[in-house]
Amino acid sequence: MIVLLISYLCATNVITMSQDWFAEIKRMIVEIQSFEIKDATSLEQFRLQFLGTKNLIKPLFAAIGKIPNELKKEYGQLVNEAKILAEERFESFKELKESANKSNANHLDLSLPVRLRSEGTRHPISQVLERIVGIFSKIGFEVVEDREIEDDWHNFTALNTPDDHPARDMQDTYYLRDFGNMLLRTHTSSVQTRYMELNKPPIRILAPGRVYRNETISARSHCQFHQVEGLYIDKNISMADLKQTLLFFAKEMYGTEVRMRLRPSYFPFTEPSAEMDIYWGLKDETDYRITKGTGWLEILGCGMVDPAVLSNCGIDPEVYSGFAFGMGIERQAMLLHKIADIRYFFENDQRFLNQF
Ligand code: DAH
Repeated sequence: MIVLLISYLCATNVITMSQDWFAEIKRMIVEIQSFEIKDATSLEQFRLQFLGTKNLIKPLFAAIGKIPNELKKEYGQLVNEAKILAEERFESFKELKESANKSNANHLDLSLPVRLRSEGTRHPISQVLERIVGIFSKIGFEVVEDREIEDDWHNFTALNTPDDHPARDMQDTYYLRDFGNMLLRTHTSSVQTRYMELNKPPIRILAPGRVYRNETISARSHCQFHQVEGLYIDKNISMADLKQTLLFFAKEMYGTEVRMRLRPSYFPFTEPSAEMDIYWGLKDETDYRITKGTGWLEILGCGMVDPAVLSNCGIDPEVYSGFAFGMGIERQAMLLHKIADIRYFFENDQRFLNQF
């Protein structure tokens, strides 16, 4: 009886059939797991084979009808697992590839052209100063610097401006009363006296630096600003030398077409003294305002060094003579760049500074 039953089952293929169907789906799962996906082409092959319209899993789904009822559930689950596995492998490789593409984009490619970074710029005052120094160094002037906290002697008295001299009122001074007779230098002319005390002629120096005055801050004046001082001492130096030197400077700074004039003036430390104007123009309202309706703009003070100043500093006025000049750097920068307000230079506003 048993032999008969077994042979019946075998003959109807019930045993081997069910084992074959499971074997087939298990083989398929192994195939999905081991399929080597390494690039876009193999990914596409994988998709066609396991997920496309004519994929290999489909017939296994279709065969479910032929599976004996008691095996249907298990079989169905297995085929479903195969399908999910195929989808998961497909998606995970796709994601991997996309993120690899993204990180490739961040890779350093040395063959790419350089991306320009916006760096800071030099302050317009430094730029203008550099230009002034460049011009005077062409004719042998050497840059010297000295202290900003100065004593009364070097800032005033040695420059022929004793305590009771009315010219002191021209420069409203910050005194450091708790530190003897010290003050914040009101002009770079103090460097003249310092330098002459220590050096014998010939002297040909340019002294740039910060100066301080107790001025009300406005569009035209500030309590701190910058000057450049020039000093030339030698034998037989005359006003003609001063004029030619300044003409050379004006042409280099403002172009060969520049018009300049020297106007008589007064400074305690020079005799004669003058102020130099350059022609700015008188076309619009701004020209009227900044030139006070004359078309001319004052850019510096100058003169022949007073013999008393030479003696104060230990230089024999019988043997030597010389000229000096002093100019505001902000003034030159405002002229060159048509800047209407001196306060911009000290505010460090990037929108202003980045224009230079
Ligand atoms: N120190 C003067 C000022 O600040 C400018 C000046 C005038 C400087 C005449 C000089 C000079 O060297 O000779 O107003």
